[in-house]
Amino acid sequence: MALQAEPLLQVKDLKQYFKVNRNYTVKAVDGISFDIYPGETYGLVGESGSGKSTIGRSVIRLHDITDGAINFNGQDISGKLKSETNSMLRTKMQMIFQDPMASLNPRKNVMDIVAHGLDIQGKAGTKNERAQKVMDILERVGLSRDFAGRFPSQFSGGQRQRLGIARALIMNPDLIIADEAISALDVSIQAQIVNLMKEIQEETNIAYLFIAHDLSMVRYISDRIGVLHLGH
Ligand SMILES: Nc1ncnc2c1ncn2[C@@H]1O[C@H](COP(=O)(O)OP(=O)(O)OP(=O)(O)O)[C@@H](O)[C@H]1O
Ligand SMILES: [Mg+2]
Repeated sequence: MALQAEPLLQVKDLKQYFKVNRNYTVKAVDGISFDIYPGETYGLVGESGSGKSTIGRSVIRLHDITDGAINFNGQDISGKLKSETNSMLRTKMQMIFQDPMASLNPRKNVMDIVAHGLDIQGKAGTKNERAQKVMDILERVGLSRDFAGRFPSQFSGGQRQRLGIARALIMNPDLIIADEAISALDVSIQAQIVNLMKEIQEETNIAYLFIAHDLSMVRYISDRIGVLHLGH
């Protein structure tokens, strides 16, 4: 990893509170700061409920943040997003999840699932270009291009996680947030997925925010690690 002067992601004093009822607010994330540089893997560990997923979801702006500042690709993404900023964010920052089955639409085939982000952002091109992009990315993640017509239920857990990676990667992102992306997989498959992610990083200089509760894999993949305890 070559440390560059400008961080890709800067999170400053992020707070994410959830108001449960009139008397009770969960301070899920309570003033955390970290930077991620281009090409870097930043590991985030902590016990269950410490706020790891909340940080991931806040950074990619699935939540309106309570307080703090998030800067990504030189743009402020903390507040209400302008449409160009939103489009940059939806392209350049992608997320992969613990359970790809839950996040892959069972009624859509691989072609449509993997092309989804391109379709939404109007970046798919012609039908042939779209198919070509999908098949190139399938091969990149170690899946056969013949899989394009199949459905998620026809794949193993490891293959589904490759699909999740393909779906993120096709957007050519600068940052992928991987929230427990390998936790549900057998140990041998975990190693394959982690190695694939590392290879892709060497080719593309992509950065990862790698969230896990198991320190062993995080230690193996990460350049730096943040430890979270009760939102701090
Ligand atoms: N939308 C929400 N509304 C209310 N409370 C929430 C919400 N999302 C998360 N929380 C609470 O915030 C805290 C942090 O949750 P979070 O899911 O971020 O933890 P985590 O570190 O990812 O845990 P795990 O390792 O189990 O995935 C928990 O107490 C959780 O119940
Ligand atoms: Mg979580």
